[in-house]
Amino acid sequence: MSQSPQSAPAVAEPKLTLYGGSNGVGRRVTVRDLAAAKRRGERWPMLTAYDALTAGVFDESGIPVLLVGDSAADNHLGYANTVPVTVDELITLTAAVVRGTKRSLIVADMPFGSYQGGARQALETGTRFLKEAGAGAVKLEGGRRVVPQVEALVQAGIPVMAHIGLTPQSVNVLGGYRVQGRGDEEAERLLADAKSLEAAGAFAVVLELVPEELATRVTELLTIPTIGIGAGPGTDAQVLVWTDMAGMTPGQAPRFAKKYADLRSVLGDAARAYAADVVNGVFPAPEHTFH
Ligand code: KIV
Repeated sequence: MSQSPQSAPAVAEPKLTLYGGSNGVGRRVTVRDLAAAKRRGERWPMLTAYDALTAGVFDESGIPVLLVGDSAADNHLGYANTVPVTVDELITLTAAVVRGTKRSLIVADMPFGSYQGGARQALETGTRFLKEAGAGAVKLEGGRRVVPQVEALVQAGIPVMAHIGLTPQSVNVLGGYRVQGRGDEEAERLLADAKSLEAAGAFAVVLELVPEELATRVTELLTIPTIGIGAGPGTDAQVLVWTDMAGMTPGQAPRFAKKYADLRSVLGDAARAYAADVVNGVFPAPEHTFH
């Protein structure tokens, strides 16, 4: 019995008014567009990106916001965690992501030690990300304690994405990667942090590893978009580290991350096939050879 060729499963084209779909609108997504999406109730995806080629794929696929996260430390640069990565390293990666994209808003993460010193230090770092790398916005971690930094950046014209809940740069104080905002007292503290950051001028806030009910409450209370990671489906947007999303991360990915591909196997298979071809004298073939 002959078998008909299997067609690839149809992937629904997402209706992303925010991004403009495949027609595009010929310009980058802005923080104003994100505010309008919240008013419309349009959910949107964000991914991390650390290089021009991968960022280009995500941009063409309709991801409206790309974060050059300090997660580049452990997912791109081989560090054990996010603490050691430097501003210079992230500026190089951010500039590459900007060069590789046309439509996505590029947000640069301010790494550990580059803004905790106060408003002046934050302003110096943020300015570098915009001037030297071409970022459209910066992100920093922390609640009320970073309000002076957020205010200084926004007043200087630098859009700020805030990040509360689990803040990996403070993992040593938090005592590990655990869910934040559990219990009434912690939840109220997180809510107060979110409101202070909004009042300080942040254009969005990442909620990492927070119970769904609390993330939904924050989302309902704020007029700026919330972006969840391990915070359930009630936020305005979702973010994943791209290597978790595409199955490049070795070992076990976090429970909240969904694996949409198995790139590590695909790449490994390709490398093994290439190695075998070279060893067996099959590559290069006549079509790869000049005379
Ligand atoms: O650095 C990063 O990738 C992040 C996201 C997890 C939000 O901060």
